[in-house]
Amino acid sequence: MTKKAWGGRFEEKPEAWVDAFNASIHFDKTLIDEDIQGSIAHATMLYHQNVLTQKESEAIINGLKAIQKDYHDGNIEFQTSLEDIHLNIEHELIQRIGAVGGKLHTGRSRNDQVATDMHLYTKKEVKQIIEAIELFQKTIVNLADEHVETIMPGYTHLQRAQPISFAHHIMTYFWMLERDKGRFKDALKRIDISPLGAAALSGTTYPIDRHETQQLLGFASIYENSLDAVSDRDYIVETLHAISLTMVHLSRFAEEIIFWSSEEAKFVTLSDAFSTGSSIMPQKKNPDMAELIRGKVGRTTGHLMSLFMTLKGLPLAYNKDMQEDKEGLFDAIHTLKGSLRIFDGMVGSMTVNTERLTQVVKSDFSNATELADYLVVKGIPFREAHEIVGKIVLWCIQNEMFLLDVPLDVYKQHHHAIDKDIYTYLQPAEAVKRRKSYGSTGQDAVKHQISVAKTLI
Ligand code: ARG
Repeated sequence: MTKKAWGGRFEEKPEAWVDAFNASIHFDKTLIDEDIQGSIAHATMLYHQNVLTQKESEAIINGLKAIQKDYHDGNIEFQTSLEDIHLNIEHELIQRIGAVGGKLHTGRSRNDQVATDMHLYTKKEVKQIIEAIELFQKTIVNLADEHVETIMPGYTHLQRAQPISFAHHIMTYFWMLERDKGRFKDALKRIDISPLGAAALSGTTYPIDRHETQQLLGFASIYENSLDAVSDRDYIVETLHAISLTMVHLSRFAEEIIFWSSEEAKFVTLSDAFSTGSSIMPQKKNPDMAELIRGKVGRTTGHLMSLFMTLKGLPLAYNKDMQEDKEGLFDAIHTLKGSLRIFDGMVGSMTVNTERLTQVVKSDFSNATELADYLVVKGIPFREAHEIVGKIVLWCIQNEMFLLDVPLDVYKQHHHAIDKDIYTYLQPAEAVKRRKSYGSTGQDAVKHQISVAKTLI
């Protein structure tokens, strides 16, 4: 077993299974690039501050770069007994360049090192998530552009409510994602902060320059308090929250797609490339991707709750509990990026069954509000109109008809003001067109909405 970096004051070594429990290398190796980037900045600064000679810092930096390359080429096996990415790299460095490698950790601790790695990593990933959200938003806008005139039933309580434009419906998800993007961008303000140089908790006696490492690493700002720098995991909680809410939005969309693609609705047809079959029922084409995304919300929200619980009651400053911040974050990021990519492909390749939708909105009572509005235009108070239309709907149910099938004399019996123009007035497409209020489903309003959306992506 390799000598421990902290072995000096110990008389006994932990057994391998205890080491394995303590170790994080099997997941924090994800941070290798950030760890090396942080170490290079630290070594550069130590040289500028005359803590290291030029030769020493060069040897360290070249050694780190070689380790990074060899790792990515598949030529380095990390050791569990060396606990984590930080100690594995330091050990490898000393093996390669000798004792001078041991000078890298001057004025630094694993506590500010791991915090630096996590800030760099989260920043990189959140930027990629923002880009992935935008790609998906573009797909939604493209589909909306094609379907401003496509009418579908709008629902409340999953009961047909009023006809709406298909574009209007799907643009709702654009706006949810726009807010998600905003949350990620806002979180970046708290992610983009340099903890490096806080050392274990109290700062250091070496003449380090924290502002130089902040600049070298491209952080927008710097922690003002060394204890805060090493114990803050708020930015991970915030990131997990933004991920969880984005996943909730994808899950709501997934639920609609599952319903829309059912035999009962047939509003859309998913492409074969984003569907799966059944091992027993030869006719089946299942929306597995959408179901999986709906299902994966459990794990992302779980990771958020898990970190909340891990942090609750932790005294300052670093505690090993914090090692538990990583797997959840890594998995949540992986889950969201995968879900966004799949969703983009699934929505981009699905067929909207416009003919079926046109037929569907004619076989329901979703134009009942129109009839009430028609009476209001003729001067009847809305409450009264509502009552009259309710009676007409009841008549229709008893006579197995929809509003467009009701003979004019029956209308006249319910109210003399109803005339033959009612048959145009009640057309679903007319109903949609009449909605001119800002942000409404009327074609002009939807076109305006789409043009605003285009300025945001
Ligand atoms: N693997 C540790 C983590 O992820 C690194 C920091 C360890 N620091 C310590 N003082 N034991 O949190």
